[in-house]
This record gives sequence, C-alpha cells and structure tokens, in this order.
Amino acid sequence: PVKILLDCDPGLDDALALLLAHGDPNIDLVAVTTVGGNVGIENTTKNALELREYLGFEKVPVAAGAGRPLVRSIKDASQVHGESGIGTVVLPEAVLAASPDHAVDVIVDTITAFPGAIHLVATGPLTNIALALEKKPSIARLVASFTIMGGSFTRGNATPAAEFNIYADPEAAKIVFDADWQVVMIGLDLTLQAEAHEGVIARFRKLGALAEKLIIPLATHWVNPNDDDWNGQAVHDVCAVAYVTRPDLFASRPARVEVETRGEFTEGMTVVDFNSPTPNAIVPITLDVNGFWAYVETVYARVAAN
Ligand code: BDR
Ligand code: CA
Repeated sequence: PVKILLDCDPGLDDALALLLAHGDPNIDLVAVTTVGGNVGIENTTKNALELREYLGFEKVPVAAGAGRPLVRSIKDASQVHGESGIGTVVLPEAVLAASPDHAVDVIVDTITAFPGAIHLVATGPLTNIALALEKKPSIARLVASFTIMGGSFTRGNATPAAEFNIYADPEAAKIVFDADWQVVMIGLDLTLQAEAHEGVIARFRKLGALAEKLIIPLATHWVNPNDDDWNGQAVHDVCAVAYVTRPDLFASRPARVEVETRGEFTEGMTVVDFNSPTPNAIVPITLDVNGFWAYVETVYARVAAN
C-alpha cells in the first residue's frame, strides 16, 4: 500500500476523503493533520478525532495544526459546511485526544522518517504545509508526491477568481507552489466533475447504516442556490486522495501555477500557464467520472461491510 499523510479541514468533503483514505486497502494512512479552514481548528480537529473513532482507525495519529492563516484574518466556509463543519452529522464524542505534537512537526517528522515514501495530500488551506516547508525545506524533495485540492484555471468559488483553500491563505499557497517539488493541483475545474448526483446517492443508499448516518448527510448537506446546472454537491477533496491511488482516472497537463497575493480583485487566484517552459505543477483536467464513482463506491462498500 501507498503511505498517505492527509492534511485536512473537515469539512464535509474532507470527511469523505478521510473515509476513502481509511477504507482503501491500497492506502496506508500514516497520519492525519488538521488546519483551520472550513471551520475553526477546534472543530476541524474535533471532527477528525470523532471520525477516527467512529471509523476505527485509532492507531493513526491525529495532530492539530495552524488555527489561522500566515498573515491574514480567518475566513471560513461554515455557510457551506455548517457550524460544526460536518453539516448535520453528529458523532459520539471522541475518547482519545489529539497527538501532543503540532501538525507541522508531524508532517516534517513523518516525511523525514520515510524518505521518498510519503504521499502528502492537502485538502484545506495550505498553512501547515507552508510552515513545514519553512521549518525543513528539504521535505519538498523527500515526499513521494504532493497533491492538493485547491485552485482552478477558470473561475473560483470563494470569489469569482479564487478557490477557497487558496483564498483562505494565499501567502501559504505561494510558498507551497514556489517550493522545490511538483504540486499536483486538483482544482475546481476537475472537482466540479465529481458531483454526487442523484444516481450516485441512490447507489450509496444501498450501503446501509454507514451511508445513512455518514456518507449521504455529508454528500448532500449543501445545495447550491444559484446554479441551474447544479446536479449535486461536488466531493472536491475525495478527488485528491483518489489521484494518489488511481491517477489513471485523470487526464492531466503540466503547467506553471502562480498564486496571486496582491490583486485588486483576484487575491488567492491561481494563475495557470499551460504553455510555460518551466512548469511547477501537474494539473488534472478531466476525470473519468464513472470510473471515479465506481472506485469510491467500492471502497465505501468495503467499509460499510466491516
Ligand atoms: C474546498 O474548500 C472547502 O470548502 C472544501 O472542503 C474543499 O477543500 C473547495 O473549494
Ligand atoms: Ca477541505
């Protein structure tokens, strides 16, 4: 199995990404680190801890990280994810505490302990990752791969120009894209292809208690009021974990990605140049939608059966 360290801000779709990382037998989830984003760090950490015990991956450390962006004030997305961060889902309170170590130390130490073996996946604002790079720049060369959910090459969601994870901490995102590694940027253009539409939900419903209690409430909490083409909530962060084990489901192009930190109307925008001679990223563009849902359903069914 491939070793994944998941840095996240659960978050409806982060929770669904955690479920995939936990359930896929081809993934060895080595650590979960949390960051403030969709909701505050207390809640993202609480959600990660409760999910860990509910799903039964107690051996995996959960470590809390940055509660605020590097330089800006906090921006959250509780209007999408609910006050708690996981919509209407209520899980038993966790008995086990978070790791005594800070997320940034866990990221640096885990990557250093397994040189060339850790697939780092980030599905929240990039604050922890930027701090880890500042602490030990060589982690950029020590990871097996680095995949984020964030950015876009067309439009944003937090603003017309910016996607939420980048918008929430553009200075951190800039550090991350400027580091000595190749970022796999799973942006909105890709993740909006992964809408949990009615057909998908109907198939999930057959998975019983896990689906009723967790998967369906997470995947249907948010309803987009302003989009006529909207077919269901996109499971953005799930795509980032899926990319690690199933890159065959994605068609990608190399690109140079720059993060706008000073634009008048474009702060937090990812400016994506597909013609650059010096690419720093791989940008997945099209998703094999049916293959993706078949993969996710297979893994979720496996968890539901256990
Ligand atoms: C991203 O922002 C968050 O609200 C989601 O969890 C996802 O990581 C989508 O823009
Ligand atoms: Ca997220």
